[in-house]
Amino acid sequence: PNNIRVEERIDCYPLEDTNKDKCISRGCYWCGESSKGEKQDNFPYCFIPKSHGYKQISVSDTNKGQRVTLERRNTPSWFGEDINRVVIDFEFQENHRLRVKIFDPSKERFEVPLDIPSPNTKAPNPLYRIELTEEPAFGFKVIRTTTNQILYDSTIGGMIISDKFLQIAGKLASNKVYGFGENEHPTFAHDTNWKRWGIFARDQPVSPTNLYGVHPFFTSIDGSNMFGVFIKNSHAQGIQLTPAPGIIYHTIGGILDMYFFLGPSPSNVVSQFTEAIGRPFFPPYWGMGFQLSRYGFNSLQNMSLAVQRTRQYGVPLDVLYGDIDVFRDNLDFTYDEVRYAGLPEYIKKIRGEGMKYIQIQDPCISNGEPAGSYPPYDRGQAADVWVKEFDNVTNAEGKVWPLNNVFFPDYSKQSCQEWWIQENIEYRKTIEFDGIWIDMNEPANFAKGSTKGCRDNPLNRPLFKPKIMGDTLYDKTVCMDYETVLGSQYDTHSLYGWSEAEPSLRAMRRATGKRSLVVSRSTYTGAGKYAVHWLGDNKSQWDDLARSIIGCLEFNLFGIPYVGADICGFFDDTTLELCTRWHQLGAFYTFSRNHNAIRQQDQDPGVHPTLATFTKDVLEIRYTLIPFLYTLFYEAHTQGHTVMRSLMEQFIKDSETHNIDKQFMWGSAILINPVLEQGASTVDVYFPDDRWYTWSTGVEVPFRKQRSIISAPLNVIPIYMRGGSIIPTQVPANSTFYSRKNPLGIIVNQGDLDDSVKGTFYWDDGESSDSIESLKYIYMDLEFKDNSIVGTIQHSNYSSGGLFFENVKVNGLQVAPVTITVDGQAHTDFTYNQNKVLEITNLRLSIERSFRIEL
Ligand code: NOJ
Repeated sequence: PNNIRVEERIDCYPLEDTNKDKCISRGCYWCGESSKGEKQDNFPYCFIPKSHGYKQISVSDTNKGQRVTLERRNTPSWFGEDINRVVIDFEFQENHRLRVKIFDPSKERFEVPLDIPSPNTKAPNPLYRIELTEEPAFGFKVIRTTTNQILYDSTIGGMIISDKFLQIAGKLASNKVYGFGENEHPTFAHDTNWKRWGIFARDQPVSPTNLYGVHPFFTSIDGSNMFGVFIKNSHAQGIQLTPAPGIIYHTIGGILDMYFFLGPSPSNVVSQFTEAIGRPFFPPYWGMGFQLSRYGFNSLQNMSLAVQRTRQYGVPLDVLYGDIDVFRDNLDFTYDEVRYAGLPEYIKKIRGEGMKYIQIQDPCISNGEPAGSYPPYDRGQAADVWVKEFDNVTNAEGKVWPLNNVFFPDYSKQSCQEWWIQENIEYRKTIEFDGIWIDMNEPANFAKGSTKGCRDNPLNRPLFKPKIMGDTLYDKTVCMDYETVLGSQYDTHSLYGWSEAEPSLRAMRRATGKRSLVVSRSTYTGAGKYAVHWLGDNKSQWDDLARSIIGCLEFNLFGIPYVGADICGFFDDTTLELCTRWHQLGAFYTFSRNHNAIRQQDQDPGVHPTLATFTKDVLEIRYTLIPFLYTLFYEAHTQGHTVMRSLMEQFIKDSETHNIDKQFMWGSAILINPVLEQGASTVDVYFPDDRWYTWSTGVEVPFRKQRSIISAPLNVIPIYMRGGSIIPTQVPANSTFYSRKNPLGIIVNQGDLDDSVKGTFYWDDGESSDSIESLKYIYMDLEFKDNSIVGTIQHSNYSSGGLFFENVKVNGLQVAPVTITVDGQAHTDFTYNQNKVLEITNLRLSIERSFRIEL
């Protein structure tokens, strides 16, 4: 009876060892003996018959699309508590967005409170259609109408809907799959050779397992198009990528609630996804700058020394961080008045010099301080803000950084949000922080479950546990039967950091009256609206350097484009070479921060003259490009695009780009090619099909749609600009406070004949929380056409205080101009060199007005 292709098998015994008898007793097919220990990531020997699952009993049209009712066949699933009657609502929400909601009509189950609009009518011209199959079991296909390509085909089988095990498998159009997280993936394009990944928020150093956040979102290539799928579920979950090619998805609760985004371009997919989940946060201008942090400066003296030597070498620096060692006894909202005596004054001073300060706060509040000595706890206690045990009365108690035990704020509770906001406002009266770093919000707990352990029940120990670290779900966190206003930890554990992000941003906005910045370790889909992310506790090792690119590209897909890894590595001591290369790559993380662990050797740029010089060089490139970067963030915030971008996203038609994850782009214009190997002084660069200009000289490279080995000695990271782009720039300075006041420039990169050459420029005061909403900004289109460089104001409602584009370069200009006019006036200050670069100087083009330069 078994004619299932090996590649299309669906494991009947996921993550468990089996034998013939056990397999057959589940009604599955048995095919050979597994060699012990190998099975998990290998092809299944015990697999599910295609007829196992549901039969369709009715189909009807609804206002929103179609409703199908299903009934379980006689065969029970093997996890018990089967849901026998299931409804699938196909909602044709938008032409580009289809929702497939699979649920139990008889009982409400937990649904993630992330509101994605569900219009009451069918989209008029959907880019998709669905096809239902009744035999051998119910399945559906999502088809792209323009190409008739099947994107997702659940007729591959294996659908199981029970109380604590829900599974759906889909065959895809190709084996090119990106996304799902948070995990440290070794490749950007997933390995589809039966590879499994667990997804569940966990305080876990960066490694190929489940990490801090949960992002059940993937994209996949169909032909030269792309689509994306978000599965709105927050439970412990996992995937297996198969060579079908396909994805088997399972989760231990909630409902299967799938959103398909039809693209068709990769940028469309991300834009459609972020339209649904919330557009990314718009960071302040100072957030574009370089940032310095470490766990264990251990004293104000060490902290200020690190800042001072960074400054002394002229390395740009915008933001300083205070980690938990700033606190007295690791207590939130305090500072150590011995080791950090004078901290408030010091912060005031560096802020006066144009820097910003971000303070960590952990979601664990010590409950054991002498009465009256720790007001944040007393006030939290008075307002009863804590996560509760299963009885919903007793406070959940754990152990984190403070000496005594801790309670965990329940950020989903109104009174807790108010308390948190007030504590931040209160703390800011002492220390003038500009942003907040919310760490340990998985939530992390060094006591397993609680100080008294956890009860043995199906929430704490469900029958099935996805491929996640730890022997129980509550390992390194709180018990799963503990309660918050949002629901049990079993349902909501992975939403904890997400629930902390919004009130934290509100707190910062209230405390500072500014746009501010919230840096969160744990995130769930949609968190990008309130917070940004760093990739967590990596190591000072070359692999982590390389893999950080993949993490950043993934978070750009997840709607959190402001992201970076700890530059030079967190754990372990770094080396001069690694740390130099890491600053070179890190200068192109959107979130560019050097961070170090306690007791490791210093690794701030000023610790070594060579490191300082090379870091200064590369950060000056970054600072030159900040107007461009800031514009990309404006566009990410308003249109939902990525900022750090894969070559695949930009050049999907070129299959050579599909697996590239050692190079990446900023927007569609800058190609970044870091050295990622010890001892290497060259990089293997793939130049996609376009013209490319060298950053430093403007010289066009003779490579196109081909690889080339590019020289990259220790002081060099090869950077190229794409033909057809226009890039706004600014003269760098040692912080954005000063660089913001410097002359601006424009780089025009000639494209192919007949191709448009375009760019944009956004500017505002850099820090108001409502610049965009209250339309207090400048937005300009830039174009090079018919031998004219034209700036056209789209919106100008901000007074820049006299900022000008003073310099314009045109790369790849074939013929030297004879005369140049600027807004009709002759302009004689220009040069043209043998590199075919035209440079026009001494311009005074106000950024508030349109202009025209004719060549
Ligand atoms: C864990 C964080 O991931 C790390 O960045 C931080 O330095 C330590 N906690 C101490 O706060």
